[in-house]
Amino acid sequence: MNTVPWWQRGIIYQIYPRSFQDANGDGVGDLPGILRRLDYLAWLGVDAIWLSPIYPSPMADFGYDVSNYTDVHPLFGTMDDFDALLEAAHARGIRVILDLVPNHTSDQHPWFLESRSSRHNSKRDWYIWRDPAPDGGPPNNWLSLFGGPAWTYDEQTGQYYLHSFLAQQPDLNWHNPEVREAIFNVMRFWLDKGVDGFRVDVADRFIKDPCLRNNPRNPDWREGMLPVEQFLEAYNKNYADNHLTARWLRAVADEYDDRVLIGEIYLPIPELVTYYGTPEAPEYHIPYNFTLITTPWEAEAVRCVVDLFEGRVPSWAWPNWVLGNHDRSRVASRVGREQARVAMMLLLTLRGTPTIYYGDELGMEDVPIPPDRVQDPLEKNIPGMGLGRDPERTPMQWDTSPNAGFCPPDVEPWLPLSEAYHTVNVAVQREQPNSMLNMTRTLIHLRRSSKALAVGDYFPCETPAGVFAYTREAGAERYLIALNFTGEPQAWTLPPAWKHAHPVLSTFMDRPEAVQCGTIHLRPNEGLILERRQHNS
Ligand code: GLC
Repeated sequence: MNTVPWWQRGIIYQIYPRSFQDANGDGVGDLPGILRRLDYLAWLGVDAIWLSPIYPSPMADFGYDVSNYTDVHPLFGTMDDFDALLEAAHARGIRVILDLVPNHTSDQHPWFLESRSSRHNSKRDWYIWRDPAPDGGPPNNWLSLFGGPAWTYDEQTGQYYLHSFLAQQPDLNWHNPEVREAIFNVMRFWLDKGVDGFRVDVADRFIKDPCLRNNPRNPDWREGMLPVEQFLEAYNKNYADNHLTARWLRAVADEYDDRVLIGEIYLPIPELVTYYGTPEAPEYHIPYNFTLITTPWEAEAVRCVVDLFEGRVPSWAWPNWVLGNHDRSRVASRVGREQARVAMMLLLTLRGTPTIYYGDELGMEDVPIPPDRVQDPLEKNIPGMGLGRDPERTPMQWDTSPNAGFCPPDVEPWLPLSEAYHTVNVAVQREQPNSMLNMTRTLIHLRRSSKALAVGDYFPCETPAGVFAYTREAGAERYLIALNFTGEPQAWTLPPAWKHAHPVLSTFMDRPEAVQCGTIHLRPNEGLILERRQHNS
């Protein structure tokens, strides 16, 4: 297995730094906090951590508005803290992946301050400036994902600038070679330090149509859909030339050994897989595959997306799976507490690099946010549509002490804690042999110790409705994973070769007599892993 790159056989764990561990008592998580919890992550068994942005930022979009790409926000600590974290993570065999945000900067970034200072400034063309339309309005009909037009008028210089997100997040002009070189040098700065790769923010939007043509109206748009969905994003998302940016970034990552490049790309599978590039012109090692987040939680639907992705990933490339992140409702809230275990078993047994969102290993759920505690600009700009991302960004639940061990008892955390933290926390679940945490850890260790589960082939099985089952195979090692997506018991006559297989792990963390006379009996909401050696068949 050691000949397989680490990012292929490994498990990634996403940390939202504001919410992981507060070490300096200001109610916001920080780098020393993450350092303090590295032993937990080593115990859990993850191979890499991805940190959402830690850079200086006015925090209009909680760090995704970067005002300095090569420093650390004082809220999170210092560069020394970062170096210490990197060293300590590496000492434990944990890789560190940073978030790279190349589509836009903060409007407070010195590049933008210069750019907006005059039409003749040398950095004017680093951003996308255009004259008003003849009626004085925005240059075209593009909309911001965070509400309203994607253009903001600048009184001082009499032009509009483009922003795919907030007005405080102006888009960089990727047609300009100086911009590209500046971002490549940002990458080199961190790669020289020993960072193991990047998760690249909104990787499907860097290069837009140079003519800035209007997007067509979406004929299927109805009341209740997102405002941005009124138009099909033909000219500002997944524009054909955007693949160049993926190749450029990959070439920089490839100047170094053993680094990974992950793209945040929300596209249907057939288009998503084009971001692997080709063997001659590779793009992202991991174009993030978010389809499980949006697929209805039914065995048949999930099997469809798994098989579709399996069938579309080029043979020289490697799949990946994601169940949650800082932008989407938590998996335990989407699929329910009981199915959350099934979902974790799915994530950790599919072929492809899994990414676990912090807290999902405990079954953390979305936390309702009272109106006066709302932080997310998306919720503030487009209220009432359930778009707010605060519920999935609440503090990690470590123990039963006030504030769950996230921050000192007398400090108010930046977002409210889940009321469930008294039982759903690391300390309690570590002691419960059958907890979600111990189940996740057992799955991680099983995957890490098994070539079949980590890097083996995937074959779907024919099953009764409500069950999704597949095998993972490498050499003589064979696993069968059977997942009951329903609240009813399910019986399934196993394929003949599996008649004498034995159960290795149930999501209930017990060892029931699951297989009788070649029939597998799954309890409601149960996932089960069976094992057999090839010579048994
Ligand atoms: C990505 C991030 C999201 C952010 C947006 C704008 O989608 O994941 O959190 O708001 O980019 O940078």
